[in-house]
Amino acid sequence: MSFPIPTLSRIGGELQLESVSLTELAHQYGTPTYVYSARAMRDAYGAYAEALAGVPSQVCYAVKANSNLAVLGVFARLGAGFDIVSGGELSRVLAAGGRAEKVVFSGVGKRGDEIAQAIECGIQCFNIESAAELDQISRIASYLGKTAPVAFRVNPAVDPKTHPYISTGLRSNKFGVDFDEALALYRRAQTLPGLRVSGIACHIGSQLLDPAPVVEAADKVLGLVDRLAAEGILLDHIDLGGGLGIRYQDEAPPSVADYLAPLIARFGQRREKLCFEPGRSLVGNAGLLLTRVELLKHGVEKNFAVVDAAMNDLARPALYDAYHASVPVSERQGTAAACYDIVGPICESGDFLARERELAIADGDLLALLSAGAYGMTMSSNYNTRPRAAEVLVDGERTFLARSRETVESLYLNEHALPASF
Ligand code: LLP
Repeated sequence: MSFPIPTLSRIGGELQLESVSLTELAHQYGTPTYVYSARAMRDAYGAYAEALAGVPSQVCYAVKANSNLAVLGVFARLGAGFDIVSGGELSRVLAAGGRAEKVVFSGVGKRGDEIAQAIECGIQCFNIESAAELDQISRIASYLGKTAPVAFRVNPAVDPKTHPYISTGLRSNKFGVDFDEALALYRRAQTLPGLRVSGIACHIGSQLLDPAPVVEAADKVLGLVDRLAAEGILLDHIDLGGGLGIRYQDEAPPSVADYLAPLIARFGQRREKLCFEPGRSLVGNAGLLLTRVELLKHGVEKNFAVVDAAMNDLARPALYDAYHASVPVSERQGTAAACYDIVGPICESGDFLARERELAIADGDLLALLSAGAYGMTMSSNYNTRPRAAEVLVDGERTFLARSRETVESLYLNEHALPASF
């Protein structure tokens, strides 16, 4: 089967991302290192742009998937908007060259200072997730003498049929305002100072492989938009969230065009702008985590390949039992394959990156963990005082160090050793 990363290939036994040898990258930048393909990101964005050609629309890249400034820069140059969930992400978008007026701000717990920051910057819209937040934004905007554009993120109560940790559109989830309360909230928003009702938003979950629940949610949203219009509440945009899944192993997600087709059929001719907030489908299969085998450990029941990356670098396997393909960077001749769990050096049994993989490897070999461009680096930590990995962006034959590897000293820069006087 082909690699899930479209710009990854094996040439003469050696893995190459675009035109760059991963062995050379490891020599130059060390390991563990996240490596991203600019072309894969541009192509993934291009698929959305192409499918939406001629439809008044906007693609807002979900920053949480991968918030490196260089990655944000790739999307900013393509004219993308951005979906943020914190003031920190807003600062990153602006530092990377993104435009505030193309930013939508989601999240159930926006702080007052973050709301003020976003209003001052002139973002496109707040996706409001509760009645309390509506009042809060009205208050802050009034205090600042500004008008905040708002949408309600409605919870359509449909089952997205994905991992329970990443489904967000169920009644039991904390996300969004209850669908049946939305109408009353819109009416109320019309009467509050400092607000301009601008849209509606809906996001039901992530890594969705079946488009049917999204279409079901979209139909519910459409019904609500029409009811609002009947009351004279006209919206500028309809935001159908992110969520499109990718191939990690043998999943068969719909293409971007197939995923969007039923939505464009419903919304394409309307006056409201159609917006999306994809994260994973833009960057997930544009990235890999490059790691080196420290040693092989042959146990009675299991073999382990202990590598220099760990759950602090890539948390998805430990957190969701997620699958990431693990591929040797250089093909070995004459080494027998064996079955390995690929584990990190962290003191937790949950510190695995892959399990039961048939691999012909030896100490010192390089491995690539694929499909790690989304929710990889952004979910990393410094557990066990492990400096975070470097990040490198590849474009054709060029490489760009997008983030230097952290130093140990930098990890305790904000800490204070106890003085004798205390
Ligand atoms: N919009 C909103 C409001 C979201 O909550 C999310 C993701 C997105 C857009 C982007 O969704 P995407 O297109 O990437 O599916 N850490 C998990 C995924 C958490 C997703 C959270 N929300 C993972 O590693 O699978």
